[in-house]
Amino acid sequence: MLKIIMSQHDSIRAVEWKDNHLVLLDQRKLPHNEQFIALYSADDTAEAIRNMVVRGAPAIGIAAAYAVVMAARKSYKQYPQDWRQRLLAEIETLKNSRPTAINLMWALNRMCLAAEQIQGDPEYPLLELAKKIHQDDIDANYHMGELGSALIAPSHGVLTHCNTGSLATGGYGTALGVIRSAYSNGKIEHVYADETRPWWQGSRLTAWELAKDKIPAHLLCDGAAAHLMKLGKVSWVIVGSDRIAANGDVANKIGTYSLAVNARYHGVKFMVVAPTSTIDLATLCGNDIPIEERPQDEVLNVSNQRIAAHHTQAWNPAFDVTPASLVDALVTEKGVIENPTAEKIAALMAS
Ligand code: MRU
Repeated sequence: MLKIIMSQHDSIRAVEWKDNHLVLLDQRKLPHNEQFIALYSADDTAEAIRNMVVRGAPAIGIAAAYAVVMAARKSYKQYPQDWRQRLLAEIETLKNSRPTAINLMWALNRMCLAAEQIQGDPEYPLLELAKKIHQDDIDANYHMGELGSALIAPSHGVLTHCNTGSLATGGYGTALGVIRSAYSNGKIEHVYADETRPWWQGSRLTAWELAKDKIPAHLLCDGAAAHLMKLGKVSWVIVGSDRIAANGDVANKIGTYSLAVNARYHGVKFMVVAPTSTIDLATLCGNDIPIEERPQDEVLNVSNQRIAAHHTQAWNPAFDVTPASLVDALVTEKGVIENPTAEKIAALMAS
């Protein structure tokens, strides 16, 4: 049974298994509408991941794990002798739904390995594993919350980017989990959240989560971050990650790299919070991380209203890579690494 609420600052779940299907909070509709979508197939789940109904690296991995349960149930019913082969095709579709977040491939590889060992009806054992992946993520977030909070000297403000909270994970959040814990522990008084163009994860999602949890926050335009640092209003920038290469380079939401450069210049510390499922030892450095490019329309339109002249073209990379040398602390559920290097990461992963 998944733990639903574990603290006064943890009231949201965006991914849930109900009876025999997956339920997702439709993140495209937030903050104005809290609508849930019921999904019964892997194809529909892949579509929901592609279209950002569910987003955030750990959350899409968890949704995909539940999708494998539904795919296995269908395959076993239709082709009891040949269900594994059929399942592999559906897993491939899920893997291709978004390219950057390694948590998606990590969760699918775990489900795939488990499926190879199963004799008989696969639904129950695969559902148990999907629930475990989900619960482990929540537990990791709580643990990282405390580890990250311990790094923060009592200070007035921190800055975060994108959405890394309950909506982006199994629950509680990575960077936002640290912020939740640090706020509960009296370490921080105020949160600054970048609005995070072009998909507005900061304004539509993070500000919504912070308001629900009554954590004092200001939203700012992405371009205001350097000015905020210069005024000394924040002591840490705290972000999540979609994939961390073996050498510690960090892929995260577009704009993160600028924050890291600005933080170093202004003497503000830079913290990355991610479970070890985000670390990809097979990707040696940041240059090898595939960066998703999303449709131009996300930049050219706001709320379905065109904001640029006709014939204007837009470039819309969804992520960027921050070099490990700009990261002061990498917080994982296995422990904290200061100034990450390939050697320190290899040792952490082997522990
Ligand atoms: O495009 P998104 O909204 O899926 O991007 C999400 C992020 O970049 C988050 O910062 C990242 O997944 C870490 S969240 C736990």
